[in-house]
Amino acid sequence: MWIGTPLILLLALTPQAIISVKRRDLETVFQWKQLVYGFPTEQDRQEALNSGNFVPNSGAPIGVAPHHQSQKGTRVFTTIPKFQTGIPYTLATVSDTNEPNGPVLNPYPNYGWHNAHGRDCDKITSVFRVALTECDQMVVIDTGVIGMTQYCPPQLLIFDLNTDTLVHRYRFETNVYTPNASLLITPVVVVHDPPPKGRCQRLHVYIADVTYHGLVIYDSEQNTAWRAENKFMYPDPNYGTHTIAGESFTLMDGMFALATDQRQLYFHPLASNSEYAVPLNVLNNRTNWANNVESMQDQFRLLGQRSSECAAETMDSHNNLYCVTFNPIKLTMWNPNRPFNVKKELQVPADPRLIEFVSDMKVFKNDAGKEELWMISIRYQKIASGTLSGSEVNFRVVRRLLDDIQHVSHQDLSQRLIFT
Ligand SMILES: *[C@@H]1O[C@H](CO)[C@@H](O)[C@H](O)[C@H]1NC(C)=O
Ligand SMILES: *[C@@H]1O[C@H](CO)[C@@H](O)[C@H](O)[C@H]1NC(C)=O
Repeated sequence: MWIGTPLILLLALTPQAIISVKRRDLETVFQWKQLVYGFPTEQDRQEALNSGNFVPNSGAPIGVAPHHQSQKGTRVFTTIPKFQTGIPYTLATVSDTNEPNGPVLNPYPNYGWHNAHGRDCDKITSVFRVALTECDQMVVIDTGVIGMTQYCPPQLLIFDLNTDTLVHRYRFETNVYTPNASLLITPVVVVHDPPPKGRCQRLHVYIADVTYHGLVIYDSEQNTAWRAENKFMYPDPNYGTHTIAGESFTLMDGMFALATDQRQLYFHPLASNSEYAVPLNVLNNRTNWANNVESMQDQFRLLGQRSSECAAETMDSHNNLYCVTFNPIKLTMWNPNRPFNVKKELQVPADPRLIEFVSDMKVFKNDAGKEELWMISIRYQKIASGTLSGSEVNFRVVRRLLDDIQHVSHQDLSQRLIFT
């Protein structure tokens, strides 16, 4: 905590001195004009080109997940969903090798997991986002969809990041999704047996179904899944047209972003300015949903409204909820002890050019045990309108340490004292 007594004294004596107070800025970790796909061999690359499974410069990296492990160091994972064909793989690590368009991606865990393109449902078809656990596990939600077509049932895969091998697979059944209609895009994991005592064997994974407006709950102990639906998971047409950095597009996405404080699931549709919550124990009791996916309506509550729509959200260990609003672009932070409304919306200073449509956010505990906010920004407004230019930087991974704002009183933060 760097705002200490000497600083406060200084403020009291010379108000203009606050201008010199250093705030934390967003730091760009990676940036791309277009994605750069690496292949294990030149022959693999040629075959992918010839078959149409690789169209150079295609794809957008919508998911990000940094991970640190002593032997492998820090690795950053990204996901490239197959909105169309021509994307050679959907889950990748970002390498240190730089090309003019940006750092080279490598398929994860290896190319052999990706080169089936829907013809082999034991492989990975298309992934929007992943979630990591404290036990070096990666939870992958594979939609099974390329373009608009359901090639494979959606599946949940758990990889051990120490060995980079698959440790568990669960294929979702049609009681929790509707083929060619559902799209399982965002997982959030709650671990009931965390380290050092536990081994992360008891998990609940909550997954947003963005197009069929629902939530899928996976329980690792029962190795089964069920579905919950609520009117709050639907898009609101009043918030279906979005403006980012002066460009507008319509996207009527429903259930989109999830976060948790281990007691509640927080969520919002993309086409919405509202944030909602539901207790985890209500979701976790399968009996509640056995006869009616739309039950327990009185357990869902509106927390409040933002100044405008936002995409991905995440929560830190202090239960601060982060989301980047579209218009204007603001990195916002909400603490559950405060009212959730537009007037009290807290803005964390951040260069808006670096966070045009943040499609994924993660809180990452670094080597020093400090939490960092990681975001991936994709300028979706340009993708939607077809104005993406290959000569500009379009995709960015940015991060920001949270230590300055996590501990500062919210009174200070709202008055911008520490940042001006
Ligand atoms: C999904 O769509 C594809 C292509 O339109 C079709 O061939 C397939 O039968 C559909 N699957 C189901 C389960 O409806
Ligand atoms: C689960 O919910 C059912 C009602 O839907 C209730 O009877 C049961 O006691 C609940 N179980 C637990 C463990 O809370």
